[in-house]
Amino acid sequence: MKMKWIYKRQFYRNFFVRIYIRLSAKVTRLLDGRRDRRICGCSLARYVPSLYRESMGATGSESSSYWSLDQIFRDFSFAQSDSFIDVGCGKGRILAYLADKKCPCPLTGIELNEDVYHYAKKWTAAFPQITLIHGNAFEQDYNPYTVMFLGRPFETEMFRRFIDYLEGNLTHPIRLIYWWDTQSGSYLENRSGWRMLRREWVFASHGLFMYPCPQRFTIWEYHPLST
Ligand SMILES: C[S@@+](CC[C@H](N)C(=O)[O-])C[C@H]1O[C@@H](n2cnc3c(N)ncnc32)[C@H](O)[C@@H]1O
Repeated sequence: MKMKWIYKRQFYRNFFVRIYIRLSAKVTRLLDGRRDRRICGCSLARYVPSLYRESMGATGSESSSYWSLDQIFRDFSFAQSDSFIDVGCGKGRILAYLADKKCPCPLTGIELNEDVYHYAKKWTAAFPQITLIHGNAFEQDYNPYTVMFLGRPFETEMFRRFIDYLEGNLTHPIRLIYWWDTQSGSYLENRSGWRMLRREWVFASHGLFMYPCPQRFTIWEYHPLST
Protein backbone atom coordinates (compact mmCIF):
# COMPACT_ATOMS: atom_id res chain seq x y z
CA MET A 1 0.00 0.00 0.00
CA LYS A 2 1.46 3.35 -1.04
CA MET A 3 1.48 6.58 1.03
CA LYS A 4 0.98 4.88 4.41
CA TRP A 5 1.27 8.26 6.18
CA ILE A 6 -2.18 9.35 4.98
CA TYR A 7 -3.68 6.65 7.25
CA LYS A 8 -2.10 8.18 10.35
CA ARG A 9 -4.40 10.11 12.71
CA GLN A 10 -2.01 13.03 13.09
CA PHE A 11 -2.29 13.52 9.32
CA TYR A 12 -6.03 13.27 8.69
CA ARG A 13 -6.99 15.01 11.95
CA ASN A 14 -4.94 18.08 11.02
CA PHE A 15 -7.20 21.14 10.63
CA PHE A 16 -6.09 22.07 7.09
CA VAL A 17 -6.03 18.48 5.92
CA ARG A 18 -9.59 18.05 7.21
CA ILE A 19 -10.73 20.96 5.05
CA TYR A 20 -9.10 19.39 1.98
CA ILE A 21 -10.61 16.00 2.84
CA ARG A 22 -14.09 17.49 3.18
CA LEU A 23 -13.82 19.35 -0.14
CA SER A 24 -12.34 16.43 -2.02
CA ALA A 25 -15.02 14.04 -0.65
CA LYS A 26 -17.60 16.41 -2.16
CA VAL A 27 -15.83 16.31 -5.52
CA THR A 28 -15.65 12.49 -5.33
CA ARG A 29 -19.40 12.41 -4.66
CA LEU A 30 -20.08 14.60 -7.71
CA LEU A 31 -17.93 12.36 -9.90
CA ASP A 32 -19.69 9.28 -8.50
CA GLY A 33 -23.07 10.84 -9.33
CA ARG A 34 -21.87 11.49 -12.88
CA ARG A 35 -20.76 7.87 -13.24
CA ASP A 36 -24.15 6.71 -11.84
CA ARG A 37 -25.96 8.72 -14.50
CA ARG A 38 -23.84 7.18 -17.23
CA ILE A 39 -24.50 3.62 -16.01
CA CYS A 40 -28.01 3.82 -14.50
CA GLY A 41 -29.52 7.00 -15.95
CA CYS A 42 -29.93 8.50 -12.45
CA SER A 43 -27.76 9.44 -9.48
CA LEU A 44 -27.42 7.01 -6.56
CA ALA A 45 -25.51 9.51 -4.42
CA ARG A 46 -28.18 10.84 -2.03
CA TYR A 47 -27.92 9.54 1.53
CA VAL A 48 -31.21 8.17 2.94
CA PRO A 49 -31.29 7.90 6.76
CA SER A 50 -32.34 4.57 8.25
CA LEU A 51 -35.93 4.10 9.43
CA TYR A 52 -34.92 0.93 11.25
CA ARG A 53 -31.78 1.83 13.21
CA GLU A 54 -33.44 1.45 16.63
CA SER A 55 -35.67 -1.52 15.84
CA MET A 56 -33.39 -3.57 13.56
CA GLY A 57 -29.87 -2.18 13.88
CA ALA A 58 -30.04 -1.13 10.21
CA THR A 59 -27.70 1.56 8.87
CA GLY A 60 -28.75 4.32 6.44
CA SER A 61 -28.50 4.03 2.66
CA GLU A 62 -25.09 5.37 1.71
CA SER A 63 -23.54 4.39 -1.61
CA SER A 64 -19.93 3.25 -1.66
CA SER A 65 -17.59 5.38 -3.74
CA TYR A 66 -16.68 3.88 -7.14
CA TRP A 67 -12.96 4.28 -6.49
CA SER A 68 -13.30 2.25 -3.29
CA LEU A 69 -14.96 -0.48 -5.38
CA ASP A 70 -12.05 -0.37 -7.84
CA GLN A 71 -9.78 -1.21 -4.91
CA ILE A 72 -12.07 -3.83 -3.34
CA PHE A 73 -12.73 -5.73 -6.58
CA ARG A 74 -9.16 -5.46 -7.90
CA ASP A 75 -7.93 -9.05 -8.40
CA PHE A 76 -11.34 -10.45 -7.39
CA SER A 77 -12.42 -12.99 -9.98
CA PHE A 78 -15.97 -14.01 -10.84
CA ALA A 79 -16.87 -17.13 -12.82
CA GLN A 80 -20.03 -17.51 -14.88
CA SER A 81 -21.12 -20.15 -12.36
CA ASP A 82 -20.90 -17.67 -9.47
CA SER A 83 -23.94 -15.91 -8.10
CA PHE A 84 -23.52 -12.56 -6.33
CA ILE A 85 -25.69 -10.92 -3.67
CA ASP A 86 -25.37 -7.48 -2.07
CA VAL A 87 -27.10 -7.73 1.31
CA GLY A 88 -28.46 -4.24 2.03
CA CYS A 89 -27.94 -3.03 -1.53
CA GLY A 90 -29.32 0.48 -0.95
CA LYS A 91 -29.90 2.22 -4.28
CA GLY A 92 -27.70 -0.37 -5.97
CA ARG A 93 -24.26 1.22 -6.50
CA ILE A 94 -22.43 -2.14 -6.16
CA LEU A 95 -24.76 -3.77 -8.70
CA ALA A 96 -24.24 -0.83 -11.08
CA TYR A 97 -20.48 -1.11 -10.70
CA LEU A 98 -20.37 -4.86 -11.36
CA ALA A 99 -22.81 -4.69 -14.30
CA ASP A 100 -20.71 -1.92 -15.84
CA LYS A 101 -17.56 -4.03 -15.36
CA LYS A 102 -19.26 -6.88 -17.30
CA CYS A 103 -19.31 -9.22 -14.31
CA PRO A 104 -20.23 -12.58 -15.91
CA CYS A 105 -22.61 -13.91 -13.22
CA PRO A 106 -26.14 -13.05 -12.01
CA LEU A 107 -26.32 -10.10 -9.60
CA THR A 108 -28.88 -9.79 -6.78
CA GLY A 109 -29.56 -7.08 -4.23
CA ILE A 110 -31.78 -7.23 -1.18
CA GLU A 111 -32.99 -4.05 0.49
CA LEU A 112 -35.16 -3.43 3.56
CA ASN A 113 -36.17 0.20 3.03
CA GLU A 114 -39.15 0.23 0.66
CA ASP A 115 -38.50 3.67 -0.91
CA VAL A 116 -34.85 2.86 -1.49
CA TYR A 117 -35.77 -0.53 -2.95
CA HIS A 118 -38.22 1.09 -5.41
CA TYR A 119 -35.57 3.59 -6.49
CA ALA A 120 -33.16 0.76 -7.25
CA LYS A 121 -35.88 -1.37 -8.85
CA LYS A 122 -36.64 1.39 -11.34
CA TRP A 123 -33.16 1.78 -12.83
CA THR A 124 -32.27 -1.93 -12.66
CA ALA A 125 -35.30 -2.80 -14.83
CA ALA A 126 -33.04 -2.15 -17.86
CA PHE A 127 -30.52 -4.79 -16.65
CA PRO A 128 -31.75 -8.40 -17.05
CA GLN A 129 -28.67 -9.60 -15.16
CA ILE A 130 -29.87 -7.87 -11.95
CA THR A 131 -32.57 -9.13 -9.57
CA LEU A 132 -33.84 -7.03 -6.68
CA ILE A 133 -35.56 -8.33 -3.57
CA HIS A 134 -37.48 -6.17 -1.14
CA GLY A 135 -37.18 -7.76 2.29
CA ASN A 136 -35.32 -8.47 5.47
CA ALA A 137 -31.84 -9.99 5.16
CA PHE A 138 -32.65 -12.24 8.13
CA GLU A 139 -35.42 -14.01 6.22
CA GLN A 140 -33.51 -15.10 3.11
CA ASP A 141 -31.94 -18.36 2.00
CA TYR A 142 -28.34 -17.65 0.93
CA ASN A 143 -27.63 -21.06 -0.56
CA PRO A 144 -28.24 -19.87 -4.15
CA TYR A 145 -25.24 -17.47 -3.81
CA THR A 146 -21.49 -17.95 -3.88
CA VAL A 147 -20.29 -14.35 -3.36
CA MET A 148 -21.79 -12.02 -0.75
CA PHE A 149 -21.15 -8.30 -0.28
CA LEU A 150 -21.92 -6.55 3.00
CA GLY A 151 -21.43 -2.76 2.89
CA ARG A 152 -21.98 -2.43 6.64
CA PRO A 153 -25.77 -2.83 6.49
CA PHE A 154 -25.98 -3.56 10.23
CA GLU A 155 -24.81 -2.12 13.52
CA THR A 156 -22.37 -4.36 15.42
CA GLU A 157 -24.82 -6.51 17.41
CA MET A 158 -26.98 -7.14 14.33
CA PHE A 159 -23.90 -8.03 12.28
CA ARG A 160 -23.01 -10.73 14.83
CA ARG A 161 -26.55 -12.07 14.70
CA PHE A 162 -26.41 -12.07 10.91
CA ILE A 163 -23.20 -14.14 10.89
CA ASP A 164 -24.81 -16.63 13.28
CA TYR A 165 -27.86 -16.74 10.96
CA LEU A 166 -25.65 -17.24 7.90
CA GLU A 167 -23.71 -20.07 9.51
CA GLY A 168 -26.99 -21.77 10.41
CA ASN A 169 -28.27 -21.35 6.85
CA LEU A 170 -25.35 -22.04 4.49
CA THR A 171 -24.60 -25.53 3.27
CA HIS A 172 -21.81 -24.66 0.81
CA PRO A 173 -18.72 -22.40 0.80
CA ILE A 174 -19.00 -18.69 -0.03
CA ARG A 175 -16.73 -15.69 -0.36
CA LEU A 176 -17.77 -12.70 1.73
CA ILE A 177 -16.63 -9.15 1.10
CA TYR A 178 -17.16 -7.17 4.28
CA TRP A 179 -16.73 -3.44 3.63
CA TRP A 180 -16.65 -0.78 6.36
CA ASP A 181 -15.73 -3.51 8.82
CA THR A 182 -13.62 -1.64 11.40
CA GLN A 183 -16.28 -1.81 14.13
CA SER A 184 -17.40 -5.41 13.85
CA GLY A 185 -15.04 -7.29 11.50
CA SER A 186 -13.09 -8.77 14.41
CA TYR A 187 -16.07 -11.09 15.03
CA LEU A 188 -14.86 -13.25 12.13
CA GLU A 189 -11.22 -13.38 13.20
CA ASN A 190 -10.16 -16.81 14.51
CA ARG A 191 -13.72 -18.05 14.03
CA SER A 192 -14.21 -21.66 12.90
CA GLY A 193 -14.95 -21.98 9.19
CA TRP A 194 -13.72 -18.46 8.29
CA ARG A 195 -10.44 -17.71 6.50
CA MET A 196 -9.22 -14.19 5.75
CA LEU A 197 -8.13 -13.74 2.11
CA ARG A 198 -7.34 -10.03 2.02
CA ARG A 199 -7.67 -6.95 4.25
CA GLU A 200 -6.98 -3.37 3.16
CA TRP A 201 -7.59 0.24 4.04
CA VAL A 202 -9.33 2.60 1.60
CA PHE A 203 -9.10 6.37 1.83
CA ALA A 204 -7.88 8.24 -1.24
CA SER A 205 -7.60 7.85 -4.98
CA HIS A 206 -6.74 10.12 -7.92
CA GLY A 207 -5.41 12.71 -5.41
CA LEU A 208 -8.85 13.01 -3.74
CA PHE A 209 -10.26 11.59 -0.51
CA MET A 210 -13.41 9.50 -0.56
CA TYR A 211 -14.30 9.45 3.15
CA PRO A 212 -13.66 11.64 6.23
CA CYS A 213 -11.28 9.01 7.65
CA PRO A 214 -9.75 5.70 6.43
CA GLN A 215 -12.15 2.79 5.93
CA ARG A 216 -11.37 -0.91 5.78
CA PHE A 217 -12.59 -4.00 3.94
CA THR A 218 -11.84 -7.67 4.42
CA ILE A 219 -12.45 -10.54 2.00
CA TRP A 220 -13.30 -13.84 3.68
CA GLU A 221 -13.85 -17.40 2.58
CA TYR A 222 -16.36 -19.41 4.59
CA HIS A 223 -16.60 -23.19 4.64
CA PRO A 224 -19.55 -24.60 6.59
CA LEU A 225 -18.15 -26.82 9.31
CA SER A 226 -19.91 -29.93 8.06
CA THR A 227 -18.50 -29.76 4.47
C1 LIG B 1 -24.65 1.54 4.00
S1 LIG B 1 -25.96 1.02 2.90
C2 LIG B 1 -24.97 0.14 1.71
C3 LIG B 1 -25.49 0.26 0.28
C4 LIG B 1 -24.68 -0.50 -0.75
N1 LIG B 1 -24.46 -1.89 -0.35
C5 LIG B 1 -23.33 0.15 -1.01
O1 LIG B 1 -22.35 -0.28 -0.36
O2 LIG B 1 -23.25 1.05 -1.84
C6 LIG B 1 -26.70 -0.29 3.87
C7 LIG B 1 -28.12 -0.68 3.41
O3 LIG B 1 -28.50 -1.89 4.12
C8 LIG B 1 -29.91 -1.86 4.27
N2 LIG B 1 -30.29 -2.81 5.34
C9 LIG B 1 -30.08 -2.70 6.67
N3 LIG B 1 -30.61 -3.74 7.34
C10 LIG B 1 -31.18 -4.55 6.42
C11 LIG B 1 -31.90 -5.78 6.50
N4 LIG B 1 -32.13 -6.39 7.67
N5 LIG B 1 -32.33 -6.34 5.35
C12 LIG B 1 -32.08 -5.75 4.14
N6 LIG B 1 -31.43 -4.57 4.01
C13 LIG B 1 -30.97 -3.97 5.13
C14 LIG B 1 -30.18 -0.40 4.65
O4 LIG B 1 -31.53 -0.05 4.45
C15 LIG B 1 -29.20 0.35 3.72
O5 LIG B 1 -29.83 0.72 2.51
